[in-house]
Amino acid sequence: MKIAVLTGAGISAESGLATFRGAGGLWEGYRFEDVASPQALAENPELVHRFYDMRRKAAREAEPNAAHQALAALEREHEVTIVTQNVDDLHERAGSRNVLHLHGELMKARPLKGGEAIPWRDDLPPGLGYRPHVVFFGEEVPSMGDATLVVMEADLLLVVGTSLQVYPAAGLVGVALRRGKRVVLVDPNPPPEPPQRVWVIAEPATTGVARFIAEELA
Ligand code: OAD
Repeated sequence: MKIAVLTGAGISAESGLATFRGAGGLWEGYRFEDVASPQALAENPELVHRFYDMRRKAAREAEPNAAHQALAALEREHEVTIVTQNVDDLHERAGSRNVLHLHGELMKARPLKGGEAIPWRDDLPPGLGYRPHVVFFGEEVPSMGDATLVVMEADLLLVVGTSLQVYPAAGLVGVALRRGKRVVLVDPNPPPEPPQRVWVIAEPATTGVARFIAEELA
């Protein structure tokens, strides 16, 4: 089966990485305009770099959890593509080979003047001429076309750990539903009124993904 998986911060929550929204979320301690916007990078690069240094360190120290691992193992029997909004590398470290990062990658940096991203695992000092290889608010999402194709060509869309509040990523659910695809959503706090025809598994990623595999793919 061709399976497209859309993941968000919630899949890495059980690895100890903070989500964005809700109590204790990153956007409670920071305004995204101050740390994740082109204007912030121009006006206060120290704060922007410190924010991503902190997140890079947390990601370096985190380990993939059972949900990342179960999705990687699915590749043995199915054609799986992961479309993630996450900038951490936990899907890759769990062994997933087809991972499309919609919002960029923490472990890469790219020249401010444009050009190829390069691997970067340590703190990234401002002043080097490089910026984190992440998508800021207001910037384009370069992989959106590829992600839309992945969903259009899949038999099923599994959505794990995203509040579906940020577009264009959230629009992928509509892409799947409009084409009559099966959509399954794993989230311990799912939206109060999920679209009809969505199977909601209201559990954390580790047990919810396992339930999906046991009940849908058995
Ligand atoms: P959010 O923080 O908006 O949503 C996280 C979701 O994960 C919520 O629906 C939680 O209920 C759910 N969740 C929490 N714990 C979970 C667990 N153990 N298992 C499964 N789900 C769990 O994060 P995203 O939807 O990823 O963009 O946010 C989307 C984008 O907004 C991010 O990529 C980022 C942010 O601003 C940029 O920085 C461009």
